[in-house]
Amino acid sequence: MHENLTIVDHPLVQHKLTLMREKTTSTAVFRQLLHEISMLLAYEVTRDLPMTAKSIETPLTQMDAPVLEGKKLALVSILRAGNGLLNGVLELIPSARVGFVGLYRDEKTLQPVQYYFKVPEEMENRRVIAVDPMLATGNSSAAAIDLLKGAGARDIRFLCLLAAPEGVRRMAEAHPDVPIVTAALDERLNDVGYILPGLGDAGDRMFGTK
Ligand code: URA
Repeated sequence: MHENLTIVDHPLVQHKLTLMREKTTSTAVFRQLLHEISMLLAYEVTRDLPMTAKSIETPLTQMDAPVLEGKKLALVSILRAGNGLLNGVLELIPSARVGFVGLYRDEKTLQPVQYYFKVPEEMENRRVIAVDPMLATGNSSAAAIDLLKGAGARDIRFLCLLAAPEGVRRMAEAHPDVPIVTAALDERLNDVGYILPGLGDAGDRMFGTK
């Protein structure tokens, strides 16, 4: 049904996600779980990165050993909740370059408006992983991907924690070339755009704001 979607059904991911969904989970525990789960999701979103071989010397002999091909990856956090996923992914890929996209929703037009945009150089030569925990309507995610393509990015993946069918469809229409990796596909959005059953406001839960 959703060709561009990969759901990471690993037991550790699913267990941690359930703990994150529970409303009694504290900010500190939520943040720790998000850090752990983002490393597991990073493992999946990088599964098909192209490899090349490099000649190395082990203590015993020479060998051609596999290494990642090409320029350093670019991780792009969609502010502010993206930062919660970013840290865990960076722990797994410490040499990645990092960019940030800030968007807010105009109250009159309901369209996303850019307030911050800073990405690494040579986006056209990098594999890009855009991170945002909640793929809800998909409007801001699609707008963020528009901006990344405008900066030259051609090979983009989108990593989130939870996705709503509405958001997956929106992304598939706007950016069919962008694969989405998530821990779960939830039922639907409620009438104010929150994912059901969801986990609430990801930014508020990870930063302790309300
Ligand atoms: N953003 C959130 O933080 N939570 C949702 O459920 C939807 C969008």
